[in-house]
Amino acid sequence: MTYLTTPIYYVNDLPHVGHAYTTVLADALARWHRLCGRPVRLITGTDEHGAKVQRSAVEAGVTPAALAEATAGRFRTTWDRLGIGYDEFVRTTSAAHRNTVTALLTRVHDAGHLRPGRYDGRYCVACEAYTAEPVCGLHHRPTEQVSEENWFFRLSRFAEPLAEWFDRCPDAVRPVSRRNEALGWLHRGLTDFSISRANLTWGIPLPWDPTQVTYVWFDALGSYLTAAGWPDPDFSRWWPARHIIGKDILRFHAIYWPAILLAAELPLPERITVHGFLLQRGSKIAKSGERTVALDDLLDRFGPEGLRYHLLRDNPVGPDGEFSVASVEARYQADLANTLGNLLSRVTALVVSRAGGVGPAPRPDSPLARVADSSVEASAAGWDAGQPAEALAATWRLVAAANSYLVSARPWRATPGSAEATAVLGDVLEALRIVAVLAAPALPESADRIWRQLGLDGYAPRVPDDLAWGGYPGGRPVSRAAPLFPRLAPVG
Ligand code: MSP
Repeated sequence: MTYLTTPIYYVNDLPHVGHAYTTVLADALARWHRLCGRPVRLITGTDEHGAKVQRSAVEAGVTPAALAEATAGRFRTTWDRLGIGYDEFVRTTSAAHRNTVTALLTRVHDAGHLRPGRYDGRYCVACEAYTAEPVCGLHHRPTEQVSEENWFFRLSRFAEPLAEWFDRCPDAVRPVSRRNEALGWLHRGLTDFSISRANLTWGIPLPWDPTQVTYVWFDALGSYLTAAGWPDPDFSRWWPARHIIGKDILRFHAIYWPAILLAAELPLPERITVHGFLLQRGSKIAKSGERTVALDDLLDRFGPEGLRYHLLRDNPVGPDGEFSVASVEARYQADLANTLGNLLSRVTALVVSRAGGVGPAPRPDSPLARVADSSVEASAAGWDAGQPAEALAATWRLVAAANSYLVSARPWRATPGSAEATAVLGDVLEALRIVAVLAAPALPESADRIWRQLGLDGYAPRVPDDLAWGGYPGGRPVSRAAPLFPRLAPVG
C-alpha cells in the first residue's frame, strides 16, 4: 500500500507553477507505483482556514467560505487539466475533516499533551507561523505582534522520541541535507507551540474551548489523516503516509507533525520527500501572476504533458531550480517534438510505406536490446529513488539510440518488405513500446497514444515484466497519426 500526499494549498491564491511542480511530482511517483502493481492512494486538497485566507477574503470583499469554494474549484480544474490522477481532494472546511481534527485534538488533549498558556510574540501571517523575527525570511514582510491566551502543544516533551525516530529511520526525511536541517532544530531544542488562536473566527473550534479556533497548521496537517479515513480503524489500510513537500514547510512536517502523531499514538510518516523551490530571477515563485507566467498560459502553449515533462526532467528533487518559459520550450522542442515525436512519426510512416502497415516483431539480438536493458535499469532506479529527472534522462538515452539506429540503418532505402527493413522497424517499435512504459508516469497521455499507434490498444503494462526486450508481439496494425507533440506556434 502506498499513501502519497501533496501539501494542501492555501486558497488565498490561485495555483501557480510552483504548486504544479509538487503536484506533478507526486502524481508521477504515484503512477510509477501503480505501474509496479502496488495499490496507491494519491491525495491533494486545499487549506482553507486561518488568518491569511480570512484576510484575503476581506480584501476581495467576499466571505472566506466563498473564496475557499471558488479557489478550491480552480485547483481542482487545474489539476484535472494537468492530468493529476488524485484519489481524493481534501478540503479543510469539509465535515469529514472537521470530525478528524476534532477527534485528533480531543485525543491529544485527553492524553495531557496540551496546556493553556499565553502567546506573546511575533507571527507571520504569510507563513502562518510563530516566529522570533521582526521580518519574515521567506516573504520579506514584517511579522505581527500577537498577545493572547492560547492552548499550547507540549512539543518539548517529544525531543527524545523524535530523535529516536530519526535514528531508527535514517531515510525517513530525504534528501539527507533536509534531514540534517531538521536534526539541527531538534538539537537546538524544541519549545511548546500554540495550537489555537483566540482572535480569529475562521477555523475549527477547540472541542473543549470554543472561544478558540484551531491553529491552521494543526488543522492542515490533520488533512492527511482525514483522507485516510481516520478515526475509522480502516485508516491503517493506507497509513502511514509518504509526504511530498517543498522545503518551506519542512519544520511543520519533520518536527511538528511527527510529534503530534506521537502524542496521538499514531504511526509516524513513512517518508517525507522534500524538494527545492522553482525560482524566477533567483527568488521563489510565491504568488500567481506576480512576475511569472500563468499556469493556464503554459498549459495552452505546451499542453499538460509538455509542462509535466519539463517540471520533472529539469528539476531534480532537492535543489532549487530557475524556472523560465524558454526552458520549457527548449525541452519541448528537443526531447518531445524533435526526438520522441519525430521518431514515432518516422517509424510509423515507414511501417505504413515499407511493411504494409503491420508492425514487425523485434529481433531478440537487436543492437538496441542492450541499450534498452541499460536504460531500463537506470530509469527504473531513478523512479524507485523518487528522482524522475534521472529516470527520464535514462529513458531518453534509449530514444536517442533508437533515432540514431534508424538514421544509420536507413530502412527507407531498402526494398519494401525486405527482411532487413522489417527487422530494423520492429526493433524501433519495440524501443518505443519500452520508452512509453518508462515515460508513462510523466507522460500518461502520450504513452497511451504511442501504444495505440503501435496497435496495442488497451495496453496496461506492468513493471518489471513489460520492460523486458521482446514484448512487442508484432503483427499489429501500425498507423500514422497527428504529431504527438505539434510544432509550437510562434509567440505573439
Ligand atoms: N497550506 C500549506 C501546506 C499545508 S500541508 C499540510 C502551504 N500551502 S502553499 O499553498 O503555500 O503551498 C505550499 C507548497 O507548494 C510548498 O511546500 C511547495 O510544495 C509548493 N510550492 C509553492 N511555491 C513553490 C515554488 N516556488 N517552488 C516549488 N514549490 C512550491 O504551505
